[in-house]
Amino acid sequence: MKVKKSELYISAAGQDQYPDEGKPEIALAGRSNVGKSSFINKLLGRKNLAYTSGKPGKTRLLNFFNINDAFYFVDVPGYGYAKVSKSERAAWGRLIENYLQNREELCGVVLIIDVRHAPTKDDIAMYDWLKHFEIPVIIAATKADKVPKTKRPRHLKQVRETLEPEEEDELILFSSETGEGMTEAWQAIERKMRR
Ligand code: GTP
Ligand code: MG
Repeated sequence: MKVKKSELYISAAGQDQYPDEGKPEIALAGRSNVGKSSFINKLLGRKNLAYTSGKPGKTRLLNFFNINDAFYFVDVPGYGYAKVSKSERAAWGRLIENYLQNREELCGVVLIIDVRHAPTKDDIAMYDWLKHFEIPVIIAATKADKVPKTKRPRHLKQVRETLEPEEEDELILFSSETGEGMTEAWQAIERKMRR
């Protein structure tokens, strides 16, 4: 995909603020600090459009990014971050669940996991939850730059064995640092939008 335009459309705190033109949407999901915002920036060729941080838990609202006036990337708050209050966590949970469960414009979710480690309990729960609601998923195993090339197949195998992805759900090795997996990621995203 040639990105000619990318901009933050809105940081939404609720349904009434979502865009209403019916354009397709691709959402990001994954543990806090795993690299969701970095994934968006890399795909768009932008350094800092989606806010990234060394500190987890920075993305708190649903950030809709307008791409080429054709579709939206939706950056979603990460899960599994302990240092927020229970009530705050519950509020995000409702926001995210409500969006993912009910959003007709949603064509697919890019589930970002850290390729260095086996998927966590939260990752597995998230994947199974998405599948329960029949949402198409792309699994992007990111931070590939942190794993030596020779060891990557073993890590991917572990991901496959832990998540047991359905056949139509792509598994992609990715790095926001080196840009590895960019072409595959775009292809997978475009495929989801065509369905
Ligand atoms: P929240 O919004 O808090 O949920 O985090 P996030 O998932 O959006 O993570 P973010 O993109 O902010 O990245 C978190 C940290 O990981 C930052 O310090 C990034 O520079 C780093 N990071 C992200 N992707 C990669 C990658 O592919 N390789 C390496 N080496 N570092 C990465
Ligand atoms: Mg983020």
